[in-house]
Amino acid sequence: MLKLTIDGKELTAAEGSTILQVARNNRIDIPTFCNHEALEPWGACRLCIVEVVEDGRSRLVTSCNFPVKNGLKVTTKNKSIDATRKMIVELLLARCPNARAVRDMAEKLGVSEPRFTIENESCILCGMCVRVCREIVGAQAITFAYRGSKKQVASPFLTRSADCIGCGACVYVCPTQCIGMDDVAGAQDIYADGAETADYARVMKNWRTRLPLKVCTVCGNPIAPEFQLQVLAKRVGLSPERLDLCQTCKE
Ligand code: SF4
Ligand code: SF4
Ligand code: FES
Repeated sequence: MLKLTIDGKELTAAEGSTILQVARNNRIDIPTFCNHEALEPWGACRLCIVEVVEDGRSRLVTSCNFPVKNGLKVTTKNKSIDATRKMIVELLLARCPNARAVRDMAEKLGVSEPRFTIENESCILCGMCVRVCREIVGAQAITFAYRGSKKQVASPFLTRSADCIGCGACVYVCPTQCIGMDDVAGAQDIYADGAETADYARVMKNWRTRLPLKVCTVCGNPIAPEFQLQVLAKRVGLSPERLDLCQTCKE
C-alpha cells in the first residue's frame, strides 16, 4: 500500500490506483465528464484536474489518469483549480448550451452564462461512446472524425457502420444523451438501398445505421438486433436457436 495525502487527509491506496479512484473511495468529490469506472481513463475533458506536489514541485494534472505514488500530496480545490474548471465548463456550456449534464455541472461550479460564442452542439467529445464500443462491446463501430472545430464522433466515412451491433451501450454511457436509438416497425428497405426488408429495425441515428430486429418465433414481438444476437451467441458458444424467444415467451 502507498501513503499519500489528499486535501490534507492522510490516506493509503493500492499501487496502480489513480488519484480519482482514491479520492472517490474516500468520498472526496472531483468533477468529471469523461470518466467511467468500467472504461480506461482517457483524460479528455480535463475537468478532474487537481494539484499535485512531488519532490517539492507543484503542477496541475488530470486525476483520472494520474497514478498515485508514495508521499504524493494532492489538492482537489483551490483558486487556480476552481478557475480552470470554471473555464472548462464555460467552454462546454457555450458548445452545448442545451445539454442537461453540462448545465448541471455549470451550475454546480458557479457558471451561469458563458462569455463565448454559443454553438448548438450536443456532444461534448468525451469519447465515452467510442471507448465503450471498443473496450466493452468489442465492436469498434465508431470513432472520432475530423479535427479542430469539426471534430465529431461518427461511423467510418460517415456512412452505415458495418460493425455496429445496435447494442445501445454508447447510448447508455453518453452523458449528454445525444445519441439517438429507436426501434421502428414496418422497416421496409432497411438499408435504404432496397437490399433487405424487415418487420422491425433498430435505428442508430447518429451512426446512420439500421439493423433488422429478430422477432420472437412464438409471439412475433421484436427481441433485439439479429446481428447483436449472432455476435453474442458466437461469443458465449450458444446455438442461435436458443435466442429465438423473447423473455416473456421463455417464462
Ligand atoms: S450501438 Fe453500435 S456504436 Fe453503439 S456501442 Fe453498440 S456496437 Fe458500438
Ligand atoms: S456522443 Fe456522447 S458519449 Fe460520445 S463523445 Fe459525444 S457526448 Fe461523449
Ligand atoms: S475525467 Fe479526467 S480528464 Fe475527463
